[in-house]
Amino acid sequence: MKLHFYCNPARRFGCTVFSAAPIAVCVLLLAPCAAWSAAAPAPIILTGADRRPSISLNGEWSSIVDPYFAGLFSFHHQEKANGWFLNQKAKPGDPFPTEYDFSKATKLKVPGDWNTQRDNLFFYEGPIWYQRDFTYQPKEHARLFLHVGAANYRSWFWVNGKKVCEHEGGYTSFNCELTSVVHAGDNFVVAAVDNTRHEDNVPTLETDWWNYGGLTREVSLIVLPDSFVDQYDLHLSRGEASVIEGWVHVEDAPPGAKVEVEIPELGAKTSAAAGDDGRAAVRFSAPALERWSPETPKLYKVEIRAGNDSIEDLIGFRTVETRGTEILLNGKPIFLRGVSIHAEAPYRTGRAYSDKDAETLLTWAKELGCNFVRLAHYPHDETMLRAADRMGLLVWSENPVYWALEFDNPKVLAKAEQQLDEEIGTLRNHAAIILWSMANETPNNPARTQFIGTLATRARSLDSSRLITAALLVRAEGNTKIIDDPLGQALDVIGFNEYIGWYEGHPDTADTTQWRIEYEKPLIVSEFGGGAKAGLHGSDNERWTEEYQSNIYRHQLPMLNKIPQLRGMSPWCLMDFRSPNRPLTGIQDYFNRKGLISDQGRKKLAFYLLQKAYQDRTVGKPE
Ligand code: GCU
Repeated sequence: MKLHFYCNPARRFGCTVFSAAPIAVCVLLLAPCAAWSAAAPAPIILTGADRRPSISLNGEWSSIVDPYFAGLFSFHHQEKANGWFLNQKAKPGDPFPTEYDFSKATKLKVPGDWNTQRDNLFFYEGPIWYQRDFTYQPKEHARLFLHVGAANYRSWFWVNGKKVCEHEGGYTSFNCELTSVVHAGDNFVVAAVDNTRHEDNVPTLETDWWNYGGLTREVSLIVLPDSFVDQYDLHLSRGEASVIEGWVHVEDAPPGAKVEVEIPELGAKTSAAAGDDGRAAVRFSAPALERWSPETPKLYKVEIRAGNDSIEDLIGFRTVETRGTEILLNGKPIFLRGVSIHAEAPYRTGRAYSDKDAETLLTWAKELGCNFVRLAHYPHDETMLRAADRMGLLVWSENPVYWALEFDNPKVLAKAEQQLDEEIGTLRNHAAIILWSMANETPNNPARTQFIGTLATRARSLDSSRLITAALLVRAEGNTKIIDDPLGQALDVIGFNEYIGWYEGHPDTADTTQWRIEYEKPLIVSEFGGGAKAGLHGSDNERWTEEYQSNIYRHQLPMLNKIPQLRGMSPWCLMDFRSPNRPLTGIQDYFNRKGLISDQGRKKLAFYLLQKAYQDRTVGKPE
């Protein structure tokens, strides 16, 4: 029996006796794992899952906070190890006490992090159980999937007491098949979600954002036919005008399954046969196509059919590429006037997930004069990408390879690859996304460069229509900043973070700072800025005041404008967001205050300064 990381009682119980303990004890301890760690099929990736008809499981779920994971483990009462996933009800005469009862348990809302739902869960990191009932009528030739928008960080799912899947990674969606475990009428689902941080997680122990736990995004049931379209990629060919190319993958496709792709508005359609691997390559011309761009975010209804399955998506078509140090959108040089955004919900705070959250955040970015946003430091909810497609905002999407991961640990690489596959597999048809970012601020050492180089190669093999980037650290010699991190070789576009005027020097240090760039590639300053408490005023040199933050921007923009190959910027950041690293009472109160807008929507002076520069086009080379 394979010992799951989590199953390693020695690790779990921290008991050093494990190795010394008689086998009997070991077996007793391991017994529960069997039931719990029984291998369940791996979840699948679905493209366009939000475009599928679904039965929502959002709403109030019963929840039990279980810091010691007693619902799975008990040293004394191994029989209690018949886990809480069985959702058992106590019966008179039971030989053992049942010490949990979901029907009496308090509720947690789904979607939603648990930290902002209850004061006593604000700092909580550990396992919490979720349970809810649902009714379902199985149909012939129909398969049922549990779609989870995201569950931070590790999660396990059981339906009617049977394990259906487990997942690691808090920011990507996954789908678990329920067909063989559901029955007509009443059913129940139990989930265990654990946001405990571990060294070998992705991201690892330390992040500068709140470790919001729970079923943080939508949960629903999706009914699909026996063979169905799980993933598809449709994009504009870079080489030929108005030629759409890509592929459609049919899960469990009968040999030679016919696939059709049609854009009724353009009278364009094609069909192709799926190969043995279930994939059908498609390519067709759409002469009347209007390209997607920030100015004209044109989206087309695209119908994809295969056998008894069909899905209708809303897709924009554009090309993005580099030419020397230029970034070309639809063949024309572009400057990315951007801002960085965390998935922190405006006003109510907590993990953002709704259309309203996305609308509010991206409307502020548009008000700022942006044509670009950096969604940091993990894949955001699909609602955010749908809104960016609609509103015409270009997107930098990032895999949560953040700071110092265990870059020499192959298991960690596998986790980062899985999250990358899920990010690209789910979000690949959003015209807004032009950049896949592999990482943020990682230490310059060979293991790291190898690790992220591998991810970059994988991203290119998954999607050759977009640009690969990462946010690099910068080194300095005197007042010269140097960008020569070897990781730059693996990237199409170089991102870099600098905090002149905040973590180093004074705002006017920027005036005398030189830059040496060791790459003939487009450059994006992916982070710069400083903190300010909204409403706190004082002199330009008084930290935490709006004047000080604004002064940083006043000196940054002319400095950055001198960098010849600068092709974009995404200052840090649009809105204040929660971070456990920021306790300064009365100023930060566990918020990173580098937002240009407070978490309550109050615009700071720097917002207006940058807005003017963006609207007057005084940043970057004129387009
Ligand atoms: C870092 C990091 C961010 C962080 C920011 C800050 O560069 O990438 O995640 O929030 O700096 O210190 O505010």
